[in-house]
Amino acid sequence: MALDLFSPVKLGAISLKNRMVMAPLTRNRAGEGGVPHDLNVTYYAQRATAGLIVTEATPISEMAHGYPALPGIYTDAQTAGWKKVVDAVHAKGGKIVLQLWHVGRISHPSLLPNDALPVAPSAIKPAGKAFTYKGLVDYVEPRTLDACELPAIVQEYVHATKCALSTGFDGVEIHAANGYLLDQFLRDGSNQRTDNYGGSFENRARLLMEVTKAVVSVAGADKTGLRISPVNPFNDMHDSNPQALFNYVVTELNQFNLAYLHVVEGGIHGGGKADAFDFVEMRKLYKGAYMANLGYDKARGNAAIASGHADAIAYGVPFIANPDLVERYKIDAPLNEADSKSFYGGTEKGYTDYPFLNA
Ligand code: PHB
Repeated sequence: MALDLFSPVKLGAISLKNRMVMAPLTRNRAGEGGVPHDLNVTYYAQRATAGLIVTEATPISEMAHGYPALPGIYTDAQTAGWKKVVDAVHAKGGKIVLQLWHVGRISHPSLLPNDALPVAPSAIKPAGKAFTYKGLVDYVEPRTLDACELPAIVQEYVHATKCALSTGFDGVEIHAANGYLLDQFLRDGSNQRTDNYGGSFENRARLLMEVTKAVVSVAGADKTGLRISPVNPFNDMHDSNPQALFNYVVTELNQFNLAYLHVVEGGIHGGGKADAFDFVEMRKLYKGAYMANLGYDKARGNAAIASGHADAIAYGVPFIANPDLVERYKIDAPLNEADSKSFYGGTEKGYTDYPFLNA
């Protein structure tokens, strides 16, 4: 029988009961101090029938924050909060990995310690507005990171990975997508450096490779996933030659034997036009497991798995509105509609109150 969304699969050391992954989704509902609390436990546990949950993007340090009410993964209290999430998902037979996040320039002094300037590969202010506790405000020009500061950032990834693993997470996912720090280094629209971290593909990918090597050294490659978004223009991102850049990046990533590569195959939040890109060409260069994301439904997901393009499919908005998405796809039941007004911040409304089929 052909493989489909409901076939089990092993991604590195992580065994999935089906190939439907809950994509990482920023929801801005963590407790005080970035500590996951009971509301978050309920939300993730409700979605434990997914083959794998990737948590919302999670800051690895104080300087990694870029939005209100994000959960962190660098203090003892945050780690203890995440342990409750992990235990609840495991108790329901689910698997869950934590997404490691540094936002780079997509932040604002009001969200950072001592009103610090956000940091970036280059002092290029992104177009658009920061989402702060006081509403939307203009971005500021970020501070250029000195090369000698980068080893400390790599160590933040290591510390966060250790915190995540200590709770029993099934693995970690390195967030190198969507215009945040590691993606800012990759693409030449945001990286104008003239040192070893700018210019050539090798140089622009250097920080990503250093972070990946360091995370793999503590988590093991078979528990490490990595997410990229080669053409996503969100957060004012662009590159002069995305196909050649990302063909290079995935070829270099082959050396690690990661649990999976997670690819956002287009632009999110509808802002701007995605560059032309051949995802099939890039996919052929990558030797490991491939998780595809963006705009997939059941039919397209099954087709991507049957054809061998993808080993698993990550669904975002459908999992917000349908905690039992797997069951609904299985029996072709109608889907709940997502309420986009409650995506970012708020209460249990639009978070844990979407109905199950058999409620
Ligand atoms: C968002 O808050 O819109 C957001 C956060 C993380 C992402 C993408 C989008 O990777």
